[in-house]
Amino acid sequence: MSPTPQAIVDKFGRPVRDLRISVIDKCNFRCPYCMPAEIFGADYNFLNKDELLTDDEIVRLATLFAQLGVTKFRLTGGEPLIRPNLPALVARLAQIPGIEDLALTTNAYYLPKQAQALKEAGLHRLTISLDSLDNEVFQVLNGRRATVERVLQGLEAAEAAGFTNMKINCVVKKGVNDHTLVDLARYFKDSGHIVRYIEYMDVGNLNGWKLDDVVTAEEILAMIDAEMPLEPVPPNYEGEVANRYRYLDGEGEIGIIASVTKPFCGDCTRARLSSAGEYYTCLFAHKGTDLRAPLRAGASDDEMLQRIGGVWQRRTDRYSELRTSFTRLPAKGAEMYRLGG
Ligand code: GTP
Ligand code: 5AD
Ligand code: SF4
Ligand code: SF4
Repeated sequence: MSPTPQAIVDKFGRPVRDLRISVIDKCNFRCPYCMPAEIFGADYNFLNKDELLTDDEIVRLATLFAQLGVTKFRLTGGEPLIRPNLPALVARLAQIPGIEDLALTTNAYYLPKQAQALKEAGLHRLTISLDSLDNEVFQVLNGRRATVERVLQGLEAAEAAGFTNMKINCVVKKGVNDHTLVDLARYFKDSGHIVRYIEYMDVGNLNGWKLDDVVTAEEILAMIDAEMPLEPVPPNYEGEVANRYRYLDGEGEIGIIASVTKPFCGDCTRARLSSAGEYYTCLFAHKGTDLRAPLRAGASDDEMLQRIGGVWQRRTDRYSELRTSFTRLPAKGAEMYRLGG
């Protein structure tokens, strides 16, 4: 679709195309790279109900973002399936004029219960996080909250509901799951689903990230290519985050997301909305813009468009590109579980 009359660009000429909506900050997993269990204990203060945006508020903001040029929504969390009555929200988001793509990223735990309802609500695509097929390794990477079997059951439920071409996201952490990457690729090679390996990122302040923990995209590619030869494929769309590779034998493809070693800020068209209504123009931003307060104080659509559009037009974010040249890392911003990745 062509941009709407109000389509806007930031200081580097980047339009706003994707809105990543975190629908809840809670998660039933405790992945050490995102919500380490020692920090997110039983007494951790997650948002309470009146702090979360309501369905009406999310739909209203999403509609305004669409008027500014957004054509794709991705629902994230925390774990989005924990939000009560998510299919009803999905059904409303799917109706927003101009929306061509509506996707959701989940840990799959609740898919056996919800896949069918999500499909019927009009969700287009699903991405499932699964860091290893080795159950012991996977448990280390989810804080012992789920087995591989449970995630595969979720995936099967999604297939049964009619979801195809799913993406399987695998965050790679050196010395933890790198020895299981090839198995994961092999398992999904002919499945019609696409494994995407993600370089472990220095997002947030809690995961104790070190450059030494990163297995580079180049290394990941070499490991898989050595067993099952690959060739690069052009992106599906401008600004696609993953670099694509297909198997030379013609069956299947993988993606590699090189957020650390080959940053992709140049064509970053992503805005993020936290479950508390903060609007961020970068995954690594220090501060969001509160949209909930003006919304609840009765701001008009025009006032909200001014606020949202103005922030985007002043945007100069390119954290990942800059960080490669930092000798010391600057203080970091919001946590991934609030921003939804
Ligand atoms: P498709 O729509 O299927 O192409 O997926 P997507 O680009 O929306 O990717 P997804 O949401 O699955 O993102 C996968 C991972 O890439 C995230 O979990 C992050 O780790 C990383 N990522 C996504 N967007 C950004 C971004 O804007 N900046 C950085 N640095 N990393 C990102
Ligand atoms: N680095 C890279 N990816 C991450 N994710 C969460 N934390 C990180 C991190 N530090 C990914 C998860 C999931 C998505 C929601 O974000 O694997 O696929
Ligand atoms: Fe939960 Fe996803 Fe974070 Fe893991 S990465 S703790 S599944 S939100
Ligand atoms: Fe976009 Fe910020 Fe990620 Fe760069 S670091 S790609 S600007 S979200």
